[in-house]
Amino acid sequence: MNTDPKKNFKNIDKVFFESIAKEFGTPCFVYDENSISENYNQIKNVFAQEKRNIFYSVKANSSLSILKLLYDLGSGFDIVSMGELDRVLKIGADPKKIIYSGVGKSEDDIKRSIEEGIYCINVESFSELERINKISNELKKTAPVAIRVNPNIDPGSHEYISTGLEETKFGINLKNMMDAFIYASEQKHIDLLGIDYHIGSQIETIEPFLKAISSVAQIIEELKNKNIHIQLIDMGGGLGISYNNEKVPTLNDFGKEINIAIKDNNLENYNIILELGRSIVGNSGFLLTKVEYIKKDSEKNYVIVDAGMDNLIRPALYGAVHKIDCVSEERNNKEELLCDVVGPVCECADFLGKDIKLKVEQGDIVVVYSCGAYAASMASNYNTRPKPAEILIKNGKPIQISKKETIDDLLKRELII
Ligand SMILES: Cc1ncc(COP(=O)(O)O)c(C=O)c1O
Repeated sequence: MNTDPKKNFKNIDKVFFESIAKEFGTPCFVYDENSISENYNQIKNVFAQEKRNIFYSVKANSSLSILKLLYDLGSGFDIVSMGELDRVLKIGADPKKIIYSGVGKSEDDIKRSIEEGIYCINVESFSELERINKISNELKKTAPVAIRVNPNIDPGSHEYISTGLEETKFGINLKNMMDAFIYASEQKHIDLLGIDYHIGSQIETIEPFLKAISSVAQIIEELKNKNIHIQLIDMGGGLGISYNNEKVPTLNDFGKEINIAIKDNNLENYNIILELGRSIVGNSGFLLTKVEYIKKDSEKNYVIVDAGMDNLIRPALYGAVHKIDCVSEERNNKEELLCDVVGPVCECADFLGKDIKLKVEQGDIVVVYSCGAYAASMASNYNTRPKPAEILIKNGKPIQISKKETIDDLLKRELII
């Protein structure tokens, strides 16, 4: 199955979007298991040999069934919270296949990560390093760490997802990183495994990745000069996908180029990890939504659907453009409408697409493409709206992998006093 959004299609393995919408209701997320497996295997086949591993970035899509699918295919996990840790432990992941990133780890988070025996904690600041040292001393255990450096590389993506620039909160900048490496290498209860970076997300060219690799190779030379020897390079994730006909490298090309850069920079003897998320699941997911109203009585035409920014925040947050199509059968000669596709949430930012040409009528089912990553996992309950069901197409059958939330689910944790 080619899930590139350039191709219009109305079914996955002959399971039609319209029948899924009828069976499970709208809005709902639909994922294509074959497509996720193909994506994972594409990068695995070219990259994941000895000393090379993929640690899927759980934040992209954290559905338990998708985590299990990727784990069974051989993936490890990059987590950023204890909630994500619980998810991956719940599917039976080996703690030695878990890396923990994030700038705000609490004392309890660090204590638990050390006690669970995860593979590596990616350290994002000097004060975090001191906290890890204190906790590992108290526990009389050794904490495995990598220092996240901020290589100050512009990945050319949206400013909110350009994490490798010096002015962001992520990692330790080039000026200060050596102090962290020296401190970590001197502590009895810290095992300095390596170096980590993640320069951003939705990166559409290879160049920023190659720049980062040569910058890290230089850092490793500097470390050697200080007699600090590491074994791990965590290169983060970030490869982009085609949302709206953008040309992006395939996972296969990406893997090949990374392999060449590893060789060219004499890094072949290191354990190397990629923390890919979006490029594995992004184009394998879809959001199905129903047209509630068509409103033509203002300056613009509005197609008002039952999914909103609570289900898919990317257009509002990043100005992201998702391809949108009507998948309902042609019942009569519908006219093509230039419209904004908007949701029911009470915010002007509640839109799924702007200035889109659609042939729709009330009651039709519309599909929003490229909703496998940073869609369901970023969903909220704003306007007290329950989160939608998630459906996985597996062996030609739709299987509900998470139920639609109920209003009761939302209200039951609240008290009236
Ligand atoms: C530390 C880290 N690693 C990996 C990823 C995954 O990025 P992507 O989904 O773009 O591959 C992210 C996401 O921003 C991240 O913050």
